[in-house]
Amino acid sequence: MWLLALAQFGDFRERNGVTAKAIIGDLFTMVDDPTIVGPKQAYRYIPGGMMVVENGIITAIGPQADVQPTLVPGTEVRDHSGQLITPGFIDTHIHFPQIDMIASYGEQLLDWLENYTFPAEAQYSDPAHAADAAEFFISELLRNGTTSALVYGSVHAQSVDALFEAAHTRNMRLVAGKSLMDRNVPDAVRDTAESGDSDSRMLADKWHGKGRLGYAVTPRFAPACSDEQLMRAGKMLQEYDGLLMHTHMSENTAEIAWVAELYPEAKDYLDVYDSFGLLTDHSVFAHCIHLGGDEFQRMSEANAAIAYCPTSNLFLGSGLFHLKEAEKYGVKVGIGSDVGAGTSFSILTTMAEAYKVGQLRGHKLDPMKSFYLATLGGANALNMGDRVGSLEVGKEADFLVYNMTATPLLARRLKHCKSIEETLFVLSILGDDRVVAETCIAGEKAYFQQPD
Ligand code: GUN
Ligand code: ZN
Repeated sequence: MWLLALAQFGDFRERNGVTAKAIIGDLFTMVDDPTIVGPKQAYRYIPGGMMVVENGIITAIGPQADVQPTLVPGTEVRDHSGQLITPGFIDTHIHFPQIDMIASYGEQLLDWLENYTFPAEAQYSDPAHAADAAEFFISELLRNGTTSALVYGSVHAQSVDALFEAAHTRNMRLVAGKSLMDRNVPDAVRDTAESGDSDSRMLADKWHGKGRLGYAVTPRFAPACSDEQLMRAGKMLQEYDGLLMHTHMSENTAEIAWVAELYPEAKDYLDVYDSFGLLTDHSVFAHCIHLGGDEFQRMSEANAAIAYCPTSNLFLGSGLFHLKEAEKYGVKVGIGSDVGAGTSFSILTTMAEAYKVGQLRGHKLDPMKSFYLATLGGANALNMGDRVGSLEVGKEADFLVYNMTATPLLARRLKHCKSIEETLFVLSILGDDRVVAETCIAGEKAYFQQPD
């Protein structure tokens, strides 16, 4: 299959005179869900591999000995021999306006929102503050190896504008939306059903489909949105092509009790969103810690996705996500950092916490599943798995080059690894931003570590 792809794209290169890049390294990618096809069938590992990128798209990948002879003259060769290369990470749930209050002490969800989060988000009405924060936020994603993300903005349209602007400049495949919140929140972060709707439409008209960007209709969570607001969100979702729906669900027991009080007629939390047309195959629900079997079943039937955010769930004391239940019902799952309730931008650090949650739940999260959640699984959860999330011919070339000696302990431990499975497990437990030597977006270097 590789050779066929090579021949096809070789012709294309000659016809069009495109300048290609060839990247040499130990290429690792997930190509399927290990839960479905088994861990060995779900990945490809090509030590001493070569990947060719043209116009931001992967046009060939295989052993260097096979790919090298097909290179057209003038191909730029980037030699990362001996270094691991994987797809970039996909963060399926993160908050842009929470970078100034991450690591806030002592509260669980509802008090944490009131005491720390809403006051910090209120600052994002200032376009200068938002622009400065957007630069920081996007740089931090790239420094941690995150090449795509589904992002919550603040309630203010101007802050989401700033975020899109910064992501567009870096050519990132990123989806974001302004937070819809018209009740039970302070005035400084409250919109109305009408203004929330018109701001969302204005932002979607401006940014959805521009470069690699997408828009997500983003109701904060049911307690912060009136019926009128949720109804308009469902309508907008229907009227535009390819939008995502992004919200929170079933994170905290006090939150769930509040939703039951607000919607006594609803069967459960999911039913509230469903009744407004928000349960779709383009819907991403963060957390879902306390879902019942019937809710998992309906999520699966709708082909909706869960953003699993272990650092956040532990930090806020929200609970332990049942990954096995999601797998049993066949619900799409991706990993989310959920900064600033989450405590790290690093998806590797997030994977380590997911492993520990698995231990507490009595199951082993194997490294292949973990890398699947962090890459292709996340991409599938965001309905972009046909474009990003794996290193395969025809996909966009968002990838990472690793520094395997980033810390003395990591360098020492990795020497004892006897398989790619063990190497990836160790990286997921000991690794963080320090192991990301280079982040490439559509084949171009978007971040690289400065030498010491
Ligand atoms: N539920 C509603 N808003 C939020 C938020 O900002 N973070 C988390 N973790 N949960 C929420
Ligand atoms: Zn969140």
